[in-house]
Amino acid sequence: MANSDFQSFLDEVVMKNDIVDIISGFTTLKRSGNNMMGLCPLHNDKKSPSLSVSPDKQIFHCFGCGAGGSVIQFIEAAMNLDFMDAVKYLADRVHMEMPASRGGGDKQKQLMLSKKKERLYKINAMAARYYFDNLSKPEGRAGLEYLKKREITNQTIRKFGIGYAPPGWTSLIDHLKGEGCSEEDMFDAGLIRRRNNGTYYDAFYDGRIIFPIIDVRGNVIAFGGRIIKDGTDAPKYWNTPETLIFKKKDNLFGLNIAKNDKSGRLLLMEGYMDVVALHQGGFGNAVASLGTSFTPEQARLVKRYAPSAVLCYDNDEAGKKATMRAGDILFDAGVKVRVLTVTNGKDPDEFIKNKGSDMFSVLIERAEPLIEYKINEIREKYNLNDVDDKVDFTGEVSAVLAKVKNPAQREIYVSKIADELKISASGLMAAVRESERSIGAAEERRNEVRRTRETYRRQGTQSGGRGVWQAERFLLSLMSDAEVVTADFVKKGAVVIDVGINRVDGKIFGDVDFENVVKKAAKSGIEPADFVSDPVHQRLAELMFELSKSGKMPEAADIISRCQPEDAGAVSVILINDKSTRDKLAASSQPIEILVAAKEKRLRIKADQSGDDAELYRLFEKKKERKL
Ligand code: CTP
Ligand code: MN
Repeated sequence: MANSDFQSFLDEVVMKNDIVDIISGFTTLKRSGNNMMGLCPLHNDKKSPSLSVSPDKQIFHCFGCGAGGSVIQFIEAAMNLDFMDAVKYLADRVHMEMPASRGGGDKQKQLMLSKKKERLYKINAMAARYYFDNLSKPEGRAGLEYLKKREITNQTIRKFGIGYAPPGWTSLIDHLKGEGCSEEDMFDAGLIRRRNNGTYYDAFYDGRIIFPIIDVRGNVIAFGGRIIKDGTDAPKYWNTPETLIFKKKDNLFGLNIAKNDKSGRLLLMEGYMDVVALHQGGFGNAVASLGTSFTPEQARLVKRYAPSAVLCYDNDEAGKKATMRAGDILFDAGVKVRVLTVTNGKDPDEFIKNKGSDMFSVLIERAEPLIEYKINEIREKYNLNDVDDKVDFTGEVSAVLAKVKNPAQREIYVSKIADELKISASGLMAAVRESERSIGAAEERRNEVRRTRETYRRQGTQSGGRGVWQAERFLLSLMSDAEVVTADFVKKGAVVIDVGINRVDGKIFGDVDFENVVKKAAKSGIEPADFVSDPVHQRLAELMFELSKSGKMPEAADIISRCQPEDAGAVSVILINDKSTRDKLAASSQPIEILVAAKEKRLRIKADQSGDDAELYRLFEKKKERKL
């Protein structure tokens, strides 16, 4: 299928899936001016909505997390899918058939990428097979013995595809080479490491039990390896680094199996061994995050498969801290969370060995709701017979209860704790409300800081100063969207001026339409290369200059689908043009002139550096002329 056919297929998919419909399935949107706003489902957006959706332009942008783009990018992020799977999901939704194949031009790159991914999946599957097969070979004896010592059955080994990497520098490399794989692919899959002199060695070289990490679609995407020799300096676990197909934050170990569990509940463990032991003990719903702290993406993943979760972290200080963090993240994602406390042994794996599965079921039933767990943890710190302690306790508990939004639930906790402290329930309730207000204000401030930081981050790459950066953005937004400006303009009946921008009552107006802005810029000698503040600006300018040749005003969603996927977020900010952006943009009133001046300045510097006095003189004359 030719590139342009695929592009029109994409356009149709985007057109038939209304972005407001789609996003409304994930969060509540309220109208605000031309756009709709809501809490962003792609990050922990609690109080102040930072997600902006434009029904007219069919694009979204989040000022909190920076995500943005068309309905395709939204589905990619919200459902944790890659580009093609997101397209497929949306196409299915509107009963469109995916085209058989595609290629050509820009999309060629994506095709290469998806071919590469396919190879990495395949190579990982081969590696997994190799590690697994080792267990039944003489060189895998030590591995099998270790697993037996940890009471892991053959059935469990098979179920998880557990394997062993014996000590040695090149056994995997040799094996995979024999299968026709390239070292480059092995390296890109994170299976081997490179020495300074350019030679390679196996990533798991020091005798490790290998746990394949398998995504919900059944692809082997990474490995975790536990060392079997105790008392060495080597880290206990070594995990595949991030690769093209492995993003730690997006996956949970064991979910490929646990997703089929019907209990509506996932058990969240800290470790691979816990997950394996629990499945073996009959708990088919155990999963673990991958050696990093629990992420919002993982919380969304949990929510997709189960409405509730039980945190079963290690019973030590680190485990408690991680419980608090993960608890909040799950709570924010709308998952009902309970916390299980392991009483006998350091982690669930040890508990099951000591006490058995039935007793673990009892622990699950006894798991406390997150709120109660938090309150109990706070209570431990204080002596409630001491007045000062009581005051501090009340303060901390109020902050916890401020997060309970259900009024009945809040009331129940308030009255329970008021009884315990022998204070009035209304007094405690007032403290909770006060806490809620100050948390809200702090959150608002944090959002503001984040937004500002985001803006500065974007500007960080600029050259030519803030004025040029703003002028570029303004110009790009005019190139891609004439209506915002002209519709107001006509209503006001102001005099039509050129793309030089006018203000009426503090609003910006101008005679701008798609063709004119690009043409006018081109006539003034501005070309895409003159968008110097930001590589994204330059790429978007190239696209707009290209699209202008057709003379047709493209839709914002079309622009997004034609830009590079990694630019979608940044481009959507420019295109969505919401009020605050527009206000900022309005500050730069003559974008073309600003860019022309900046361009000439660059030329003068160049002429000066190369000692071209005649050119320098000419440029200064030109500058003088313009000022007259
Ligand atoms: N982990 C890691 N790197 C380390 C230590 C731990 O990535 N150096 C991750 C692993 O995912 C591990 C989890 O943190 O599974 C929990 O660590 P730990 O409790 O030490 O591991 P267990 O799975 O309980 O392993 P074992 O019972 O064999 O000690
Ligand atoms: Mn353990």
